[in-house]
Amino acid sequence: MKVPAGPVSAPQRLLVVDDDADMLRLLSMRLNSAGYRVSTAGSAETALAQLEIERPQLVLSDVRLPGQDGLALFDEIRRRHPSLPVILLTAHGTIPDAVEATARGVFTYLTKPYDGKELLEKIAQALALGAPAPHADHPDEAWRADIVSRSSRMADLLAEAWMVAKTDASVLLRGDSGTGKEMLARAIHRASTRAGRPFIAVNCGAIPEALLESELFGHMKGAFTDAVANHKGLFQAADGGTLLLDEIGDMPPALQVKLLRVLQERAVRPVGSSQSHAVDVRIISATHRDLDTAMAAGQFREDLYYRLNVVTLTLPNLAERREDIPLLANHFLGLLAAKYARRLSGFAPEALKALVTAAWPGNVRQLYNVVEQVCALATTPLIPLALVQRALRVPSVQVLTYAEAKQRFERDYLVGLLKLTDGNVADAARLADRNRTEFYRLLQKHELTPRHFQADAAAELSPDGDSGK
Ligand SMILES: Nc1ncnc2c1ncn2[C@@H]1O[C@H](COP(=O)(O)OP(=O)(O)OP(=O)(O)O)[C@@H](O)[C@H]1O
Ligand SMILES: [Mg+2]
Repeated sequence: MKVPAGPVSAPQRLLVVDDDADMLRLLSMRLNSAGYRVSTAGSAETALAQLEIERPQLVLSDVRLPGQDGLALFDEIRRRHPSLPVILLTAHGTIPDAVEATARGVFTYLTKPYDGKELLEKIAQALALGAPAPHADHPDEAWRADIVSRSSRMADLLAEAWMVAKTDASVLLRGDSGTGKEMLARAIHRASTRAGRPFIAVNCGAIPEALLESELFGHMKGAFTDAVANHKGLFQAADGGTLLLDEIGDMPPALQVKLLRVLQERAVRPVGSSQSHAVDVRIISATHRDLDTAMAAGQFREDLYYRLNVVTLTLPNLAERREDIPLLANHFLGLLAAKYARRLSGFAPEALKALVTAAWPGNVRQLYNVVEQVCALATTPLIPLALVQRALRVPSVQVLTYAEAKQRFERDYLVGLLKLTDGNVADAARLADRNRTEFYRLLQKHELTPRHFQADAAAELSPDGDSGK
């Protein structure tokens, strides 16, 4: 493999971990002058905290660290950021250490005092295997340019997606509705060598079974009543490119068998034909359903599952990457303001806070819809909180002060008691374990009139509302 001597293209970010401040400074200087952007951490714990905020392209860590050591740090990085390469530096370079480290999957290790040239070579080798650095205007980034994100969860996912894209492996995209599965599938296609060929998405859940078969594999004229002409299927249409089988979990069992055969033989036979046609298609499948459960219930074939699922990529829910919400909301606001030709400048701070803290069961798609509604109804350039709350359909989720919450609870409690006792204060006071005088005082405080809770008061009150007597 050709290994570039220094950083290619966009500046790559390295995280260097060492408890020795002088060592950190030295390494930073050397790596900076080689063209890398370097951030540093004095301990494994600090390194892990930093990784949650920004994901570098590589971690270079000393083995000896106070607290968690470099190997423990490595294990944790593998768990949280599986595709992030790690190089360990060790002062002693004892063989068992090194063997253990490489067996665990550390990219490589170097002994201190390290040789500067070797260090740069190893770094370049490790980086050559990984994804390019995120960089807004860089051509290397075109494949993922429309995916708006700053969370390290998404950065990890995109780094893996980029690596997978360079292979022909089948990819299964999991993730709840609206998390961006189709968007990622398109990005993988763009990053692959198939980018110049078609990308075709088919929703396996939306097409009736009989039709789906001829959609996918094609049919011959006369194969069935409506088959008035030969029809090329989507597999052939996507030849040389990528086919996204969306909602694969909804594919009927009979078609699952046929799909499996196509994948095994790399050839399709149109309905009504005796001839097979070779096809070269990369398959990406997507589902929001839990395929493990579907398999256990006998609804999804295990052999097909293993064919489709060479690599699984899981889209995190929006609620698990809230740092992306302001970015996405402003991104959508920009798009939609242009679409509706509205002059909108942004969200009021409380409005943005409401967006960041909302539940988002419908994920990014729901966020888009909320921003669209807000754009359509905005009367001022700055989107106010009330509009966002209305679009979120959360009737005033403003946080109450303790005093307000207590007040509200007390009132609801008293109303509940009065309803229960038909406005009988003596009974209500007894249930509350308060004497009548005290109870009356409470009712006064909340301006509650017991008579309004008596069964025959309802009729009396209804025509002209609460008279307050
Ligand atoms: N990171 C992102 N940046 C910008 N737009 C995004 C991002 N993620 C999702 N979107 C947008 O959100 C919408 C939903 O995304 P997509 O259709 O890819 O989700 P999905 O997981 O396939 O959803 P479903 O399960 O409902 O089919 C799309 O309009 C897409 O453009
Ligand atoms: Mg989809």
